Amino acid sequence: MICLGIESTAHTFGVGIVTDKKKVLANVRDVYTTETGGIVPAQAAEHHVECFDRVIRQALDEAKLKLSDIDLISFSQGPGIGHTLKIGGLAARSLSVLGNIPLIGVNHCIAHLEIGGMCTKAKDPVLLYASGANTQIIAYDGGKYRIFGETLDGGIGNFLDTFAREMGLGFPGGPKIDALAKKGKEYIELPYVVKGMDTSFGGILTNAKQKLQSGKYSQEDLCYSLQETVFAMLVEATERAMAHTGKTELLLGGGVACNSRLQEMCKIMCKERGAECYILENQFNVDNAAMIAWLGIIMHKTGVTTALEESDVRPYERTDDIEVTWK
Ligand code: ATP
Ligand code: FE2
Repeated sequence: MICLGIESTAHTFGVGIVTDKKKVLANVRDVYTTETGGIVPAQAAEHHVECFDRVIRQALDEAKLKLSDIDLISFSQGPGIGHTLKIGGLAARSLSVLGNIPLIGVNHCIAHLEIGGMCTKAKDPVLLYASGANTQIIAYDGGKYRIFGETLDGGIGNFLDTFAREMGLGFPGGPKIDALAKKGKEYIELPYVVKGMDTSFGGILTNAKQKLQSGKYSQEDLCYSLQETVFAMLVEATERAMAHTGKTELLLGGGVACNSRLQEMCKIMCKERGAECYILENQFNVDNAAMIAWLGIIMHKTGVTTALEESDVRPYERTDDIEVTWK
């Protein structure tokens, strides 16, 4: 079986083509970026409108396939930005109708988790899902993916992007902070906020902005200290979830999982407790459509499809809304 998946929850318009034998035939992405400032939803949607036909064409060409070779069309149905989700939904519905191909809407956050099963030997991991909009610690229990801990305000990536914007850098800011942090020498104390397995970044952002504006600290030291603080918070909460569930595998997902320091800290924590730490290639950490195609395949194998009249986007869908039928 060959599935063509479409991703459009935010900045990325992606088309992935994957087989049920775990082969990725194409994973093409076109990303909306800015020189200064964050995502403007209408502009990101406009970006997707401008590139969607080219990205679909390129993915089919790379896979050396025609639309008639595709057995299933999957798309990110939610959660995400309504403006951009609609473009992916429209493209998916159109391909499904044009090619008379079954359609399946999938949950983007669960796709970040299930791609781990495609790329690694992980069987039942705790997922540290650290992206722009989401920061959640997720694990499977009793028929659903449960959220053991999450951010009480914004996602960690948006937090990094906002601080980068404050320093005059464009979107995405995470990789720029990552580079500056590597040159940092001195740790500057910042608030540290973990509540049970939940985290919060708003107060830290305010404090870091004040320190930046004071002109007393270098950007390098601030970025270094920011990363050390917020990543330690994530690792602490993740370790608590692993101890609580008794699970012995950790999987990293989401764009912030590309960060080498976060990866290093997770590996140390896992080693100390005798657990396995699974880290994916960056192309599967960031928003991508191969993961959407893969989740489409495993859900479809249990008989799930999405009727056209139920294929509306769901910007606020939660991970624990989904009944897991495929495990
Ligand atoms: P979701 O819809 O799952 O919340 P998203 O739309 O935020 O995802 P992703 O591609 O998963 O998209 O993540 C993008 C985020 O990852 C941005 O905030 C970006 O700054 C951050 N990021 C990317 N690379 C790095 C890095 N090396 N270090 C830290 N953050 C990074
Ligand atoms: Fe994502």
